[in-house]
Amino acid sequence: MCGIVGYVGSQKASTILLEGLKRLEYRGYDSAGLAVQQNGRLELARKVGRVENLVKEAAKHRFTGTTGICHTRWATHGGVTEANAHPHLSSDGKIALVHNGVIENYAAIKKFLLPKGYAFKSETDTEVLSNLIAYHYAKEPTIAGQSRFLESVRKALRHVEGTYGIAVLCLDCTGEIVAARKGSPLILGVGDKEYILASDVSALVSRTQNVVYLKDGEVVHVTPKQFFISTLDQEDVSPVVDQVTWTIDAAEMNGYAHFMEKEIFEQPAALENSMRGRFSEDGSTAKFGGLNLGPVDFRQIDRFVFLGCGTAWHSCLVAEHLIERFARVPVEVDYASEFRYRNAPLSGNPLFFVMSQSGETIDTLGALREAQRKGYKVLAVNNTVGSTIAREADGGIYQHVGPEIGVASTKAFTSQLLIGAMLALHVARMRDMSFADGVEFVSALKKAPDLVREALKQAGHIKAVAKRFSKYNDMLFLGRLSLFPIALEGALKLKEISYIHAEGYPAAEMKHGPIALINEQCPSVFFAPQGEIFNKVVSSMQEVKARKGLVIAIITEGCELPPGLADEVITIPDCHEAVLPIVATIPVQLLSYYIACERGCDVDKPRNLAKSVTVE
Ligand code: G6P
Repeated sequence: MCGIVGYVGSQKASTILLEGLKRLEYRGYDSAGLAVQQNGRLELARKVGRVENLVKEAAKHRFTGTTGICHTRWATHGGVTEANAHPHLSSDGKIALVHNGVIENYAAIKKFLLPKGYAFKSETDTEVLSNLIAYHYAKEPTIAGQSRFLESVRKALRHVEGTYGIAVLCLDCTGEIVAARKGSPLILGVGDKEYILASDVSALVSRTQNVVYLKDGEVVHVTPKQFFISTLDQEDVSPVVDQVTWTIDAAEMNGYAHFMEKEIFEQPAALENSMRGRFSEDGSTAKFGGLNLGPVDFRQIDRFVFLGCGTAWHSCLVAEHLIERFARVPVEVDYASEFRYRNAPLSGNPLFFVMSQSGETIDTLGALREAQRKGYKVLAVNNTVGSTIAREADGGIYQHVGPEIGVASTKAFTSQLLIGAMLALHVARMRDMSFADGVEFVSALKKAPDLVREALKQAGHIKAVAKRFSKYNDMLFLGRLSLFPIALEGALKLKEISYIHAEGYPAAEMKHGPIALINEQCPSVFFAPQGEIFNKVVSSMQEVKARKGLVIAIITEGCELPPGLADEVITIPDCHEAVLPIVATIPVQLLSYYIACERGCDVDKPRNLAKSVTVE
């Protein structure tokens, strides 16, 4: 949520900043801006709308400076206006700042600064911080050289309540940036005679694979020749330089119309990457290197608690179903945002899992910290190496699906479903599941990539279905058991990217309320897989048909529906129960994608959303 980039080096900063910013646009895209040090000034360009607007604006400024900062915004405090866009300049013109996060005590700080002559042009919490830094900078003329700038940032941040990832320029300090983080991600790329700061690796990986993941409470002072990390309390920190394992190619569109489309079609490979090296040599169970828990610990767990937000919360629901079904251990699922405040009573020995693609979702991080504060171990299923959640968790499982850039999650979701199924197997094999059943389970999971490839072959047919259904304004998604969460996910995908009102429901619950919505104008998407509940789902379809509702049926191969019951049928391969949620997700992803395209929506950057939600 909000993306920031900073550059110190010998190249034209604006080119590198704007290139990085385009890659961060998925974090927020209502306005954008940059500031460059040149000709003894802090030169600013800001624009409402997409980064593309800023690129045009920047061209007019003829930026030549080699040090700068930039920002793409997702508004929290203050509307979407140019005045509220970052960077924010202090009223004495000394400090320019970009910020990702929320300064909670901004009103008190403003009250403190106003009588001292500082003026405010925006409604943002961020401008308050740029003025607070300027205030400390002006107050400390006796501190010589570079440390005066660094110290004024540190002093200001000691008074700040809330969250921040910031990058700051000072008029007097040519070629320097001070950056800091608390609760919002910030990474330093260490290049060849240059440094790039960014909220996310994707903004800097085209220039360097060497990165330092800053931790909460750390401040980095970057100069043309070196960087220096310390804490707010002036303690030196020895940097750890990590290597990014993917290259910029993974973050390109590679001929697809949208990142979402690319990521949908990447799913077979993504699933292969998520399972690679994670089965035991005897082929009867799953193994994970980073759980930091042995079989004895696992046997003592009396309950799992899964926490996540958005799409990741749907993954948790499927994990609940599979773990309870195969491992017979009770599972609770909670929204991370609710868990962190509701002080739920917990059993004697629960094990927590948080699911998060980005590893930066503030509510999920808050829930993780709350569980740890109570003394529980928390493991993370996460796709972003070095993310805050990955670092703070007591262990975990990386998804290894590469960068996911489309705001609507696709490949990260099916990878989480796979990992949930592998966890169910892992725990089941420590309890009651036999060797033979384990072998069958493993062989079923290994087939998942090919089954998804098969399901993707329906794309042409689903595109035609999407064309037919793109004009409706309401839609229901109905499924049972492990496909109820997929109904929720189908509805979420559709509303996120096409702005059609959609609801996911357990198919049998439909008659307890949503049935009132059914008429010719409200189609229903049913999941009707082969098995014990097939006939029950067919009965629910009949109820819809009897009320003139249109039916899109997603069935598994070999199922036969009564003639005329479904208006459209999408067939997916028949498969093991643990793989079914993964395969059944494909048609609803494609349906939402093609409907959104048909309606002319901005699929990768849906209105009001951001991929990584780092504010509460
Ligand atoms: C945002 C995104 C969703 C995502 C959710 C959780 O709301 O728009 O697509 O599912 O955050 O994100 P996470 O990175 O924690 O999985």
